[in-house]
Amino acid sequence: MFDNMIDIHSHTLWGVDDGSRSLDETMDMCFCSEDSGTGILFVTPHLIYWDSVEELYDRREEKVQILEETLDEQGSSLIIKKGFEILCDDEIFNIKHFKPYTLNGSRYVLIEFDFGKTSEEDVASWCNYLQSFGLVPVIAHPERYGFVHNDPTCINRLSDNGVLFQINAGSPAGAFGDREMQISCQMINRGFADFIGSDAHRINIRNTNMAFYIERYPDAVDMELVRKAAVINPKVILEDLQYIPKREKYLAGL
Ligand SMILES: [Fe+2]
Repeated sequence: MFDNMIDIHSHTLWGVDDGSRSLDETMDMCFCSEDSGTGILFVTPHLIYWDSVEELYDRREEKVQILEETLDEQGSSLIIKKGFEILCDDEIFNIKHFKPYTLNGSRYVLIEFDFGKTSEEDVASWCNYLQSFGLVPVIAHPERYGFVHNDPTCINRLSDNGVLFQINAGSPAGAFGDREMQISCQMINRGFADFIGSDAHRINIRNTNMAFYIERYPDAVDMELVRKAAVINPKVILEDLQYIPKREKYLAGL
């Protein structure tokens, strides 16, 4: 499919969240990633509890070091980058320092929310707060949220306010359901899929093989825009550069 993909969202690190459960599983996920065309893999554990965030941060550092040494010993050339997937709720208004928790220490911060309870207004206020620190919010899998299913045009408004989007590689292939497929395909074709990530949690289910899903996208999906989201756009995160999205056309209310 594509070479040199940059997967900005995975739960590949073992024992830090509901993702990988062992170093062996992590290694299998890394080899799967590399074999399917990913050159750079972000490990982005869920950041849910701010009262134990320093402990989580230290565990991530320790395990990434072990992972990098093990990959090196086994001759892998996969590059690991670090981030978190921050679960936003009103508690973030108590947090003043986000930089240690961004993607690769950049201005880009990967965020998620409760799937059912969250409203567009909630998301707009959390994103405004993050932006007040000079950060750029990247919403993980927008196609999976109830508030987006109810009114996909909220993506247009969030985008107009400087928010970016990472769709899950499996969504346009139907791995999460029809609604997720419909919204994510439209997001790609209208220029709203800034990044694509595996959001891999395991080796056997929703794994790090993004190419497997990309090969199964409907014919109507613009593969050049998929390539940009998987290979080109994530470079701005690696280099902490400004990114100005090119939206083709507003999303329609489905
Ligand atoms: Fe995730």
